[in-house]
Amino acid sequence: MTITGSTVDHHATTLAPTPPPQAEAVPAASRPRFQHAGIAFGCDYNPEQWDRATWREDVRLMREAGVDLVAVNVFGWAALQAPDGAFDFTDLDEVVGLLHDAGIRINLGTGTSSPPPWLTTRHPDILPVVEDGTTRYPGGRQAWCPSSSEFRRAALELVEAVAERYGRHPAVALWHVSNELGCHNALCHCTESTRAFRRWLRTRYGTIDELNRAWGTSFWSQRYTDWDEILTPKLTLSSRNPGQVLDFHRFSSEQLLDHYRAEADAIRRRSDLPITTNFMVTAHIRNLDYWSWAPEMDVIANDHYLDHRLGEPRTELAFAADLTRGLAGGEPWLLMEHSTGSVNWQPVNLAKEPGQLLRNSLAHVARGADAVCFFQWRASLQGSEKFHSALVPHAGTDSELWREVVELGRIVGALDEVAGARVQADVALLFSWESWWASDAETRPTHAIEYLDQVHALYGALHDLGASVDVVRPGADLTGYRLVVAPGLYLVSDADAARLDEAVASGAHALVTFYSGIVDEQDRVRMGGYPGAWRDLLGVRVEEFAPVLPGTPITLESGASASLWSDRLEATDAEVVDRFADGPAAGRPAVTRRAGAAAGAPGAGDAWYLGTLLERDDLLDLVGRVAEGAGVVFEPGASADVEVTRRTDGERAWRFVVNHGADAVEFDAHGIELVTGTAVGGRIVVPAGEVRVIREEGAA
Ligand code: GLA
Repeated sequence: MTITGSTVDHHATTLAPTPPPQAEAVPAASRPRFQHAGIAFGCDYNPEQWDRATWREDVRLMREAGVDLVAVNVFGWAALQAPDGAFDFTDLDEVVGLLHDAGIRINLGTGTSSPPPWLTTRHPDILPVVEDGTTRYPGGRQAWCPSSSEFRRAALELVEAVAERYGRHPAVALWHVSNELGCHNALCHCTESTRAFRRWLRTRYGTIDELNRAWGTSFWSQRYTDWDEILTPKLTLSSRNPGQVLDFHRFSSEQLLDHYRAEADAIRRRSDLPITTNFMVTAHIRNLDYWSWAPEMDVIANDHYLDHRLGEPRTELAFAADLTRGLAGGEPWLLMEHSTGSVNWQPVNLAKEPGQLLRNSLAHVARGADAVCFFQWRASLQGSEKFHSALVPHAGTDSELWREVVELGRIVGALDEVAGARVQADVALLFSWESWWASDAETRPTHAIEYLDQVHALYGALHDLGASVDVVRPGADLTGYRLVVAPGLYLVSDADAARLDEAVASGAHALVTFYSGIVDEQDRVRMGGYPGAWRDLLGVRVEEFAPVLPGTPITLESGASASLWSDRLEATDAEVVDRFADGPAAGRPAVTRRAGAAAGAPGAGDAWYLGTLLERDDLLDLVGRVAEGAGVVFEPGASADVEVTRRTDGERAWRFVVNHGADAVEFDAHGIELVTGTAVGGRIVVPAGEVRVIREEGAA
């Protein structure tokens, strides 16, 4: 083992000015790529919590389970640096050496995710302030303000020291910047954040008049005369200015991205290895616009936990995986964390059912993951995550869970040949964090529906039908998709809206659902009837939103059931497919279709509009009809309970069948089944709860 000596420079680092949004620090083509032989299998490892004898046992067991990628030093700051600033790498050196000797590759944390108490005691201005103006204190984690220059200085000192020491170590395969940036501290309202927000606004708007226009401050006497009057959107007596709230989200996402850039730059000066950070593409966490983050990652990594507060957690897993692949531009990505069993942070933390660990893990691989990693290696004895599952449970290795982990390691190894293969999709779903921020505002037509409810409903229907879906940003290149869906896309810029018009003009079909295309990027309503951005494309005009109270049924003339929302809609240039039979929009169109041919545009696709929230089965019928008309190819045998997806390298294809159901399912198949290692010639049975991956030669 060779470790270079530390040459830490203790100079004070000043904050670099924020680069323009979406600037690429390093051109994509010259970025180092994460390279690994096959699909990585690994975990977070927190050796700080264990003694030396346990480290040796851990490495032995990691080999037994087939673990080959381990994240260390994620929460290492307090263990590495003393209050006098001196670094002591003795323990980390030993852990790195043990892993290296065992042939296990390292995903090295910069260690900056949680400052040690001595630092925040010395510099309390590092601590974040929440919207009611109160400080959040140490004792948990991530107690730092993203705009704090003192935190940045101290964090970069640590990053430089770690990168100096391990930047060229042969065991290190990947850099892991901080941890889940913005998980707890994304929105800070301290004095330093307020100043940084003003600077950001000046760069964005140039003049105070332009800012007043953007935020619509003529309303409620909110007009500003000087930049120093502007605050972050702290708690107010009434609802807050939505333009101010939206820009604060944009600013906050960019501040943390700037922090990522600063750490990555410090590493890059000392190491040629790929750098990433673990995203949180999952329900309920929405503070970062990952579309602007993604181009700056050398490889996309995501953390995903099943959320049992949702109606259909495993469909959300599929959505999150497809969205993560979208962030990766279709390339393989890394599942950096998920769980072997329960988490510790939901109201009720469900254990996984037998076989669910394999099903969840391979559902991610089926959708493009080239790594299956977990939080964490060994369940903690103390601390607030002691009842979070791990690869080694409190019960030890004489446990069902450990045996499942070892079996999973074997199966992930058997799938190595899939690494690098891509997923192909006929359908694009437009998704936007900016629209999410604006749509789920304090004041809106109904609080009974959130943005993700519409996204999940549409995605869920496509998923259950067996359609392969790419989740893409508005404004993405839509060439080649047969169908583009825009669920509840409230905010869209003119330029991004035009991409959908262009896609339909060149043959893609579109399905747009209610509360889409309502405002521009400043949250300014598009006049003349909704959905202003796509009125002509869809041939409809909504005069008024007419949501209904939860529990009030809505029926369509076809007999379809709906709830929560109706549009007072007229079809200006579209065929009425279905009408409201009752409710506040009774007699008006509910589903419309502007046929491409009828619109006088030969070769154009059909543009559908849905003005209500259909119940699951009726939505499935409608989406099925739209998708069939668009020529979308469904995977045979797919259903709500059976996920069928395909990855291909251009020559070979691998068909993944994840059977979540209670019954065995049978498929036509020819090739080699990798989970069981058997040849398949004609039919394959996938027993209830099991997963099969069939390599289909020549079927790409
Ligand atoms: C996140 C964090 C981990 C751990 C897990 C628990 O993913 O990155 O440190 O807290 O959640 O689920």
